[in-house]
Amino acid sequence: FDHAVVTPGKPQLPGLPMFRTGEGVETLSVFLKDAGGLVVELRYSVYEAEDLITRTAVYTNAGTQSLTLHKAASLSVDFAPDALELITLNGTWAAERTLERAALRCGIQSIGSMRGVPGHAHNPAVALCHADTNETTGDAWGFAFVYSGNYLIEAERCDAGERLVMGIHPYHFHWTLAPGESFTAPEAAMVYSDKGLGEMSRRFHTAIRTRLLPPHWQDMAAPRPVLINSWEACYFDFDEEKLLALAQASKKADIDLFVLDDGWFKGRNDTSSSLGDWAADTRKLPQGLPGLCKKINLLGLDMGLWVEPEAISPDSDLYRAHPDWAFGIPGREPLEIRQQYTLDFSRPEVVAGIWQQLDAVLQSCPLKYLKWDMNRSISDWYTQTLPADRQGEMPHRYVLGLYALLERLTAAFPEVLFEGCSGGGGRFDAGMLYYCPQIWCSDDTDARERTKIQYGTSFFYPVSAVGSHVSTVPNHQTGRITPFETRAVTAMAGSFGYELDLNLLSDAEKQAVTEQIQQFKAYGPLIHNGRYYRLTNPMTDAEAIWAFAAQDGSEILVQGMIFHAEANTLRHQVKLRGLCAEKQYWLDGTEQVYTGAALMAGGVLLPKAWGDYTPVSMHFTEV
Ligand code: GLA
Repeated sequence: FDHAVVTPGKPQLPGLPMFRTGEGVETLSVFLKDAGGLVVELRYSVYEAEDLITRTAVYTNAGTQSLTLHKAASLSVDFAPDALELITLNGTWAAERTLERAALRCGIQSIGSMRGVPGHAHNPAVALCHADTNETTGDAWGFAFVYSGNYLIEAERCDAGERLVMGIHPYHFHWTLAPGESFTAPEAAMVYSDKGLGEMSRRFHTAIRTRLLPPHWQDMAAPRPVLINSWEACYFDFDEEKLLALAQASKKADIDLFVLDDGWFKGRNDTSSSLGDWAADTRKLPQGLPGLCKKINLLGLDMGLWVEPEAISPDSDLYRAHPDWAFGIPGREPLEIRQQYTLDFSRPEVVAGIWQQLDAVLQSCPLKYLKWDMNRSISDWYTQTLPADRQGEMPHRYVLGLYALLERLTAAFPEVLFEGCSGGGGRFDAGMLYYCPQIWCSDDTDARERTKIQYGTSFFYPVSAVGSHVSTVPNHQTGRITPFETRAVTAMAGSFGYELDLNLLSDAEKQAVTEQIQQFKAYGPLIHNGRYYRLTNPMTDAEAIWAFAAQDGSEILVQGMIFHAEANTLRHQVKLRGLCAEKQYWLDGTEQVYTGAALMAGGVLLPKAWGDYTPVSMHFTEV
């Protein structure tokens, strides 16, 4: 230990996302020094109102010889000996962030990624709690990594107690510091709740919504548009006429934004080509993007676009011009995944080349949205610009290149809504949320499966961050048939949209879409800015029920689904939360009035299920 200082506010981390500074933030810096010339600043920033602490470590070479870091964690927290459980979110493509909870065994248990992105297998956010901690009572400590690359989270139990360590994955990590140079580790954020896991989640939700998301999209700023996405409606099979027919139907339903997904750029008819050539395919769009955008705008809709900026197809003009821009180990055949390679974003000239293309796209017409996809794990880690003994810097330099491009684009186009995506939800982390206020949650659009995925996601990330769409039935991933309203209430627990061909719907279904959108627009502020409660566990209970309560307890929207119908069964009761016990609440559309105490201690009676996946939607307002 050398010395410590407390300063108001919080310094910006160089090239890295972070919970933003502002009113009510103070930073404690603890400086440590060793004889070898290394100085480490442990930096704790305290967000008083949000009850959140962020931590980073700045490693400086204050000596006279060069130093190499082999592990540079961001956070290390020690607990006195205690019996703790570890909560992690695990999964795979189309089944991301499935919750797992287990007692810590002696030794180290870890999750992480060496895929270049956090990936689908584990999410870079974990919680520790006691065995008796539940949604409403008990201690819970939550930790989220504000980073989008290789990471390692280790939870250890030993005779001295428990320890949680979070940081960049040390595998293949080296960082050389010349005398005077510093390395700043990405930020980790933590909260503590003595009122169970529900309160832990809500602390993260508030802090992410008000301190992390881009300012334009934080609470009380612009509401999120209701969008239609062309992917499950058309896949690669479309022309301008088909898109305009979909846009026309979307306008009739009062959708705000038309998103053209994959397949719009030069020669892209399947996954085999064209990534890297970000110019319209004039066979599908004869007047290019400006022509289509103008027509969409004339219909009264905004337009958005899908891109995959970090990717390059071997069959693309970009690859033919710059084969060296893709990752590849000299003398070896690079690995194709989804018939594509990854661009070496650790090289500023590669990032600049993609910036030029995306800037031209965004300048060409008034686009209001960009879906930023990343469809493969990174392999063939080798960059031509670093010597052999510094190749270990490259995975982090890749992420810095990604952040530099996102920073430049979001600064140049602050009103464009960027939605993150990575083969569904393979890069759903607090780092991406600094640039992208919403992230496509999963390629699994089945409403039943989404209750599990969205349940896990809600442990750390707010509802407004969760891209969620109503799709067709039989569902394209599972073949399951769920009622239309059930799909709508499930998608409303997110940044709401549609992903199906509206022109194939019956008149009654088209009318339902209009009503669903009216409902979402009416409840949108409550859903996105209210307090979120998990009322059941969809992994183990017979129903998935959640609620959005107004900050002042004046209203609550209870939604979800009952999984299976039984002929003669007792209707279940679900206890509400987040209300004022002494207030009286009226159930919309009925003459029923209840006290908050009755709704919270006794609960509400769910409807009788008629058919599987019966939707639940009940709105109570203060009398
Ligand atoms: C990924 C995304 C999908 C869609 C396709 C397009 O899988 O998650 O939503 O955009 O790419 O190729």
